[in-house]
Amino acid sequence: MSFENKIKELLEKRELAKLGGGQKRIDSQHQKGKLTARERIDLLLDEGSFEEFGMFVTHRCTDFDLGEKQYLTDGVVTGYGTIDGRLVFVFAQDFTIFGGSLSLAYAEKICKVMEKAMKSGAPVIGLNDSGGARIQEGVNSLAGYADIFQHNILASGVVPQISAIFGPCAGGAVYSPALTDFTIMTKENSYMFVTGPKVVKTVTGEVINEKELGGAQAHGSKSGVTHFIADDEQEGLLLIRKLLSFLPQNNLEDPPLDMCDDPVDRLEDELNSIIPESPNKPYNVKDVIYAVVDYNEFLEVQRDYAPNIVTGYARFNGMPVGIVANQPNYLAGVLDINASRKAARFVRFCDAFNIPLVTLVDVPGFLPGSNQEHGAIITHGAKLLFAYGEATVPKVTIILRKAYGGAYCVMSSKHLRGDINYAWPMAEIAVIGPKGAIEILKSKELQAFKTEEERELFMQKHEQEYADKFATPYHAAKYGYIDDVIEPRNTRFRVIRALQSLATKKEVNPPKKHSNIPL
Ligand code: HXC
Repeated sequence: MSFENKIKELLEKRELAKLGGGQKRIDSQHQKGKLTARERIDLLLDEGSFEEFGMFVTHRCTDFDLGEKQYLTDGVVTGYGTIDGRLVFVFAQDFTIFGGSLSLAYAEKICKVMEKAMKSGAPVIGLNDSGGARIQEGVNSLAGYADIFQHNILASGVVPQISAIFGPCAGGAVYSPALTDFTIMTKENSYMFVTGPKVVKTVTGEVINEKELGGAQAHGSKSGVTHFIADDEQEGLLLIRKLLSFLPQNNLEDPPLDMCDDPVDRLEDELNSIIPESPNKPYNVKDVIYAVVDYNEFLEVQRDYAPNIVTGYARFNGMPVGIVANQPNYLAGVLDINASRKAARFVRFCDAFNIPLVTLVDVPGFLPGSNQEHGAIITHGAKLLFAYGEATVPKVTIILRKAYGGAYCVMSSKHLRGDINYAWPMAEIAVIGPKGAIEILKSKELQAFKTEEERELFMQKHEQEYADKFATPYHAAKYGYIDDVIEPRNTRFRVIRALQSLATKKEVNPPKKHSNIPL
């Protein structure tokens, strides 16, 4: 073949590969309201930055007449490109080829992407849309999945891993996204489950459709499996770009600093009166977050799951931080199983990737009840305690109002190596609230009262006494557990100064193989 023809052959092969499973299947993908793997990559990456590898890979299976069916790429598009000029590695499963199902050759392509990402120290983004293990390949396909899982595990804590689910993701295939750091689902067409509706019906008799079982809403609010829900694929891809803007490329780098014109010393007068006079009245802690961060911008993670704790990313004077805040607007901001799990994983991700933590505390304690106890709130609560105590990133804590009991200790307290711990003047830091305290401490006297009125007067007097002594920040400040009591409207400035002072912080945990976080 002449050189000219060789070049022609190359260009033809490239065109063929770009057609995936063919125009008919591309049309069918579009009819379902879905983009193709290549369209997704184009939207995700900076224009023209994608470099593909593995375009000429095909499967090696001959069973079930598969030998006659060969498609270039074998159903997954892999390579690298940039997002806001920063290197990322990407794979996008192509549903138009064998339903995006995974063969051994396909798995090898994904593993190669992950190995390159780890060597270069750059994030990996997986765009999932697949019918799972390629049935014709049998155990080879299962081996391929297990190889991917192993790579996910080794990459965990080294480079950020993000999974978007833009179609089916079923069976054991769900475990690759589950092993990554963030999962994004779309409202339509996106579902994840270990066993689908048919198997559920056969085994348990329960009748449930795909969406109810494993759609974005179910995983966004009930299971917490997904971290973000996007209206559509375009929004999902933009979300990935946004999320990466807060993250370093790898565990050896600091998160990216941004220019910031938002004044460092911006006073927010309304924060001085945001805490209601009555201790039982709620307020929205997100109003505090929006008021203090750069440009009022906050990217919330797991918004609809365990809303009694808020987690997400923002910047202070251009420095990315992870924010954890109890939410008095939901279950009074109590810590329960789900909130503890949610926040613990968030704290650990931030710590693994050098993202400072800013914690806003307003917590009445742990949620009581047999559901919580039998569901192992002891173990799950310990996760958050462990995550904060193990974290060595800068930790700035502000107690806005309540910090009671064990929850005081857990929420990035001084005792868990909180670096700078502030309190607002309305903070109440004590073992339990005034009413509960007096009911326990004065139970004998209370039993002796003949009238309710007398009892009430007695309670009021002693509750006030207790509140004056313990339900203030000054008792804790006296012992140095609180570094300063700050004016709420000046919070932004104080947090920025604190973070600046901690920018060169070094803290190392004792050497060990790994810790044994209560799982
Ligand atoms: C081979 C597959 C396939 C698979 C789909 N296809 N899934 N080929 N292996 N797993 C093929 C179809 O034969 C079809 O080929 C094309 O992809 C499109 O599929 P359709 O069924 O026409 O599409 P749709 O109606 O949209 O349904 C999509 C689907 C369905 C819901 C994903 O295809 C499906 O249920 N597939 C099987 C899912 C499954 O059981 N997978 C194994 C899960 S267990 P043609 O040539 O007709 O276009 C698993 C274990 C992993 O994954 C273990 C890891 C440890």
